[in-house]
Amino acid sequence: MLKLATRMSRAKPSAIMLIADKARQLRAAGKDIISFSIGVPNFLPGPHVYAAAREALDHDSGQYGSNRGPDALLDAFIRHLEEGGLGGYTRSNIATGIGAKHMLYNLGEALLDPGDVMVFPVPYWTTYLDIAEILDAKARLLPCPSEQNYKLTPSQLDAALPGAKLFLFNNPSNPTGMVYSREEIAALADVLVRHPDVWVICDDIYNRMVFDGVGYHKFVNARPELRDRVIHVDSISKTYGMPGWRVGFIAGPESIATAMVTMNSNHITNLPEVVNAAAVAALSGPQDVTRAKNAEFAERRNQVYAALTAIPGVVCPRPQGAFYAFPNISCAFGKSHGGKPIRNDVEFCSVLLEAKGLACVPGSAFGDPLALRISYTCPAEQLAPGMQRFQDFFAELT
Ligand SMILES: Cc1ncc(COP(=O)(O)O)c(C=O)c1O
Repeated sequence: MLKLATRMSRAKPSAIMLIADKARQLRAAGKDIISFSIGVPNFLPGPHVYAAAREALDHDSGQYGSNRGPDALLDAFIRHLEEGGLGGYTRSNIATGIGAKHMLYNLGEALLDPGDVMVFPVPYWTTYLDIAEILDAKARLLPCPSEQNYKLTPSQLDAALPGAKLFLFNNPSNPTGMVYSREEIAALADVLVRHPDVWVICDDIYNRMVFDGVGYHKFVNARPELRDRVIHVDSISKTYGMPGWRVGFIAGPESIATAMVTMNSNHITNLPEVVNAAAVAALSGPQDVTRAKNAEFAERRNQVYAALTAIPGVVCPRPQGAFYAFPNISCAFGKSHGGKPIRNDVEFCSVLLEAKGLACVPGSAFGDPLALRISYTCPAEQLAPGMQRFQDFFAELT
């Protein structure tokens, strides 16, 4: 009998995409749908990015390119890191790939043998668990419920790291929007120093989307001795409104960057010239679109947070980055809406979508079944009506 590889029995399609697809189908069927489901930025890059892409098209060599990425892109990313307060990296510390997702998957392949332990906080970005499962690694999950503001504590980390191969950390967080303060990062970095055999991946893709002046802080600046085992993952997807261009980066020890280049040489070979040129322009050109969007997202966060905290029983730690809120909606469990029972987050989201035409992602997709994720990047005119639908839904629960 013809069979797929065993690992495919562990691979699942993304839960977020499933909700987004359902919302799209309902909309196509003529229903009035507001989608708070998918985490895509609601803006396009500045005109200089398109100009650079057109220029590159006119001069396209049509040839294979560097497996690491062209020097211009590596240099632009190094400057971008420096502007973000992360200095000391050279081209040999950098590699490029098809988005942060590809880099994370390749890092998993490069670092994890079957059975190796990968530690990460819950709630987590869905793909982390999927990568662990495909690679047959063991995910050691550290629950960080709303009562602890969805943040990992140093003692939790300390207890979890013995025997682990890899610690994966995402700040600002998808799905919670939480951002760690300088002191919190320093305290976690102190713990990491005590566990020298653990690799650390920092998924930094929202590092330019931080509000309230909290700033974006890094383990390697708190404890420079961590530099030989910390790997930073970044991408142009969120910061520059370019998710479909598919450009991601890592910065880390040379051995890791070399491993990524080797993987590229066997998988993708290189990113297209036009895409590389657009990415260079995004990283090196005017940053006004990014800054303006950050201010807009901070304002939207205020709106969403105010609406959520006005609902009796809903608990939502105040997000300070990215474009997500992650309210604990478990006060609704055991109630019903229009005669439909709501026993858990999946039923909540499903009844909400059917009754109010509002799409949110159940928290269980991120490992926390007491909550749901609101992504507030919808068209501006839909945000207030969407939050109103959310409030009305709660008011109508019996
Ligand atoms: C935390 C996190 N990491 C990585 C990614 C993937 O980003 P990219 O588009 O660069 O693959 C996402 C996308 O939603 C994300 O939220």
